[in-house]
Amino acid sequence: MADPSRVHDEGERRPSHLFYQGRQRRPLIDRAEGVYMWDVHGRCYMDGSSGAMVSNIGHSNPRVLDAMRAQMQRATFAYRLHFENEPAERLAAELAAVLPAGLDRLFFVSGGSEAVESCIKLARQYALATGEAARSKVIARFPGYHGSTLGALALTGYEPLTEPFAPMLRAMPKIPAPTCYLDRDDLDAAARGRRYADMLEREIRRQGPETVLAFIMEPVGGASTGALVAPDAYYPRIREICDAHGVLLIHDEVMSGAGRTGRFLAGDHWGVVPDIVALSKGFAAGYAPLGAMAAPERLVEPVLEAGGFLHGYTYAGNPLACAAGLAVLEEIEAEGLMDNAARMGALLKARLTGLMDRYPFIGDVRGHGLLLAFELVADRETMAPLPKALNAYDRLVELAYDEGLIVYSRRTRGGLEGDHFLVCPPMIVTEDQIEEIMAMLTRALDRFAAEAGLPAEKAA
Ligand SMILES: Cc1ncc(COP(=O)(O)O)c(C=O)c1O
Repeated sequence: MADPSRVHDEGERRPSHLFYQGRQRRPLIDRAEGVYMWDVHGRCYMDGSSGAMVSNIGHSNPRVLDAMRAQMQRATFAYRLHFENEPAERLAAELAAVLPAGLDRLFFVSGGSEAVESCIKLARQYALATGEAARSKVIARFPGYHGSTLGALALTGYEPLTEPFAPMLRAMPKIPAPTCYLDRDDLDAAARGRRYADMLEREIRRQGPETVLAFIMEPVGGASTGALVAPDAYYPRIREICDAHGVLLIHDEVMSGAGRTGRFLAGDHWGVVPDIVALSKGFAAGYAPLGAMAAPERLVEPVLEAGGFLHGYTYAGNPLACAAGLAVLEEIEAEGLMDNAARMGALLKARLTGLMDRYPFIGDVRGHGLLLAFELVADRETMAPLPKALNAYDRLVELAYDEGLIVYSRRTRGGLEGDHFLVCPPMIVTEDQIEEIMAMLTRALDRFAAEAGLPAEKAA
């Protein structure tokens, strides 16, 4: 069996002026197609996490590449204060048609953090325009992830990322994310859902309702919680509480949106319509940097009337990115990829859940559609995390990478301890490819169990 450290050796020998998060090096990408990626040495990888839950329609999709090539030959960039462009207009219209009724005013950006910043700034300007200047606090959940720019970071609940910048941020109130799978009370799911939702009401009262601008949440959790899904009762109760206090409900669908959970928005599973939505990642599926904020007329018009939305990004709504986004939307619809995400997601979730028989250290499998994760624990009864020093979240990813499978991991409990792994292949994944993922993942888990001295049943 290959030594996983070889992957890094290969990279470390190659000098680089670049730096990102740490010292880890990876091979150079050569090409990618469908659910597979090849490095320059010809080694093939299964993109089991769609990058960072981005490449939702798979790589090198001909429809998208053709649309981008065609747009490139006309105009790649036209500054929005100088020209309107047809791809942006068409994308806005197509997007409005798939979003819940009323969310039909679109503002384009180039990424998820930008989308979140836009949401909170629109909310703030709406409050100012409607005579509610005291409203400035945005309540968020812990754990939660909303982006790396300082405004989005202030909403993020993931300590390793927020702590160094704490003195530079205006701290925003947090309530616990609905981690019901950790609870050992005798409440049923509905009561638990309401219990977590009611924490929002208590926090709004504690802060003073007239000071609270918005509540932001990921309807299906992403990197920080590992695909956390709340009980059904949570979602409508949150909507009720926001309405009762004049607090705007922002759904961060940067990861969960654009069909990944089997519906266009994850919030659609519960029929809850937020006031503002942030989209990115799968929206242009890795073909171009693109994101969007969607809001209703009733929020946008007062802001425009009061002098305009004081916010924007140079690359926003550029014709090339919008042509890519439009082709991605068309591909999702034409190929029925949301249905495939629902069907393949159910299959993959069942297969991951099956791993719990073999590995007692898998404590939970969760998610919706193809936004799925499993969490490792020391003890399934208490859900105590594995010893931190094992660095399971890092090690298992390396072992999977060595097997040719890319998965995405984070620490579960606010970034401090716990280990979860997102298994989120592109929405084009087939049954056979799910079996390939499972075979590679099982080999990686066996190796991890052996290394860490954890129990694992023998393969049948
Ligand atoms: C829910 C959520 N919001 C916002 C972001 C930030 O997006 P970006 O990294 O594109 O700025 C992410 C990225 O992982 C995310 O998952």
